[in-house]
Amino acid sequence: MTKKTIELENLSVYYGKRCAIWDMNVTFQSHTLTGILGPNGSGKTTLVQAILGLIPITSGTVQHTGASIAYVPQKKEMDLDFPISILDLVLMGAYHRLSWLKWYNKNERSRALQIMESLGIQHIKDRQIQEVSGGQLQRAIVARALLQDADFYILDEPFTGIDFATEKLLITLFRELRDKGKGVILVHHDLSNVQEIFDEVVMVNSRLVAAGATKHVFNADSVEKTYGDKNSLLEEASLLFEKVRKGKT
Ligand SMILES: Nc1ncnc2c1ncn2[C@@H]1O[C@H](COP(=O)(O)OP(=O)(O)O)[C@@H](O)[C@H]1O
Ligand SMILES: [Mg+2]
Repeated sequence: MTKKTIELENLSVYYGKRCAIWDMNVTFQSHTLTGILGPNGSGKTTLVQAILGLIPITSGTVQHTGASIAYVPQKKEMDLDFPISILDLVLMGAYHRLSWLKWYNKNERSRALQIMESLGIQHIKDRQIQEVSGGQLQRAIVARALLQDADFYILDEPFTGIDFATEKLLITLFRELRDKGKGVILVHHDLSNVQEIFDEVVMVNSRLVAAGATKHVFNADSVEKTYGDKNSLLEEASLLFEKVRKGKT
């Protein structure tokens, strides 16, 4: 599989006069599981939406030469109030390939069911999306993205509001996608499992603080620069590093 990239060059995004992202240079690679880390309001969602072309870029460039991207927004950005079954929600992932009058065909329906089975939600295919748990709904939303069969999958805080079993299942799935050569990019909050999940991290706080292989880049220093000392997460992270250090010696 050929290597694909998403390249950000000198990317800045303002909302009016307010700067959300300042002069970022980052390259995201296929065949890699990448975490975008940063405190609340540090520009993570803005970064992702700029990559997808959902918001205007103030300056700089985003290039993803030929690479297709599937996107799972942050929960609070999604409007899930409409009446629709779990299966139809998943099938929305197919609509862009056909005319909107006939948004999927038999093949795509059976692929959707296959993907749903692998995510353990086939048995709830006829339920309304309001009738399932947070974890089941998130599995369906991820299934919808998988149906798009993209080169990159970008998910904004996919583990928020879901059960532990779903989180474990999704992590396994993301690893499989990575092993198949896909680029998987997750906006992520929980510092305690960063080492375990991500090949690479992109740490942001309106600016790029650090980017690269997790084992080289993710450390107490970069966490402090990203989260600042006022954040309680820092304390959590220090404890974690203490634990890791002790475990190694
Ligand atoms: N649509 C918007 N209009 C104005 N300001 C916004 C908008 N969206 C986000 N912001 C501001 O931009 C900054 C970055 O937000 P965001 O990208 O959502 O951060 P994160 O995802 O890291 O929590 C925050 O200060 C936020 O208040
Ligand atoms: Mg966000």
